[in-house]
Amino acid sequence: MYDKVLESVNYIKSRITSKPKISIILGSGLGDLVSHIEKSCEINYEDIPHFPVSTVKGHSGKLIFGSINNVEIMALSGRFHFYEGYSMKEVTYPVFVMKLLEIEKMIVTNACGGINKNYKPGTLMIIDDFINLMGTNPLYGINDDRFGPRFPDMTEPYKKYLIETTKEVAKKHNIILEQGVYAGFQGPYYETRAEIKMISGFGADTVGMSTVPETIVSNYLGIDTLGISCVTNMATGIQAMKHSHDNVVKTAKEASTKFVKLIACVIKEI
Ligand code: HPA
Repeated sequence: MYDKVLESVNYIKSRITSKPKISIILGSGLGDLVSHIEKSCEINYEDIPHFPVSTVKGHSGKLIFGSINNVEIMALSGRFHFYEGYSMKEVTYPVFVMKLLEIEKMIVTNACGGINKNYKPGTLMIIDDFINLMGTNPLYGINDDRFGPRFPDMTEPYKKYLIETTKEVAKKHNIILEQGVYAGFQGPYYETRAEIKMISGFGADTVGMSTVPETIVSNYLGIDTLGISCVTNMATGIQAMKHSHDNVVKTAKEASTKFVKLIACVIKEI
C-alpha cells in the first residue's frame, strides 16, 4: 500500500504548486466551503492513480488546493463511506495520502443525528471523542511501520489544543458550539430506536456513518485532528419524523453559513 500511496502523492505533487499543512474533509451538505476557497488546483479523484472514486448523491469527488483567509489548505470534496462497499483501507486512503503530502492537521466534518436532547437540527458540535460501532477498523491487518505503530494510542483522538482554539474562535464570532461524543455506525440505514437508546447509554451525543475510520487513521499517522459535526436531525426515536438523505443535506446546507465562518476562522488560528 505504501508504494501505491507514494504513486498517488507523486501524481498530486506534479499537479500542485502549494504545500498545505491543513486538510479538510467535507461532510454531506457542507461542501459550501469550497466556494470560499481561493483555488489554485483541483484534481478529480479518478485522475489520481489508486485513488477510490466516490458514488453518493451530494458528494462530488475532487481534491481542492487553495487558500482560505490566506492559509493554504487541501480540501476533500467527497468522501468514501464504508457502507458504499469500499474496504476500510479505501475509505481512509485519502488520509494516508495526506500523510505523505506532509499534512500536519486534519479537520474532519460530517452531518449527523443528534442524541443529546439539548441539541437540535442545525447545532454544530466539536467532536470530543468517538465510539467505533462499525464492526471493524482500518488498521486491521498487517502493520506497515513506515506509516505508524501497531497499537496506536487514542487518548486524544481529537486534539485538546485544537478543541480549545476552536472554542475561542467560536466565542469571538458568537457561534454556539456544543462538544460531545460521536458514535459511528456502519450504515447505510438510519439506526433503530433501540440502537439509539443503547448508544445514548454508552454516552454518545451524536450518531453518523463516517468520520471514525478517518480519525483512527489520522491518529495512527500522527496527524493532529479536529472534528466538527453538524446535527441535521434528531436520531431515531428522538424525533417523530422519518429520516431522509435529502433532509439531511438540506439542513446541513442551512447550517453551512455558520459552519463556513467557523472553519474559515479556525484555519487562521491553528
Ligand atoms: N444517523 C446516522 N447518520 C446520520 C444521521 C442519523 O440520524 N443524520 C445524518 N447522518
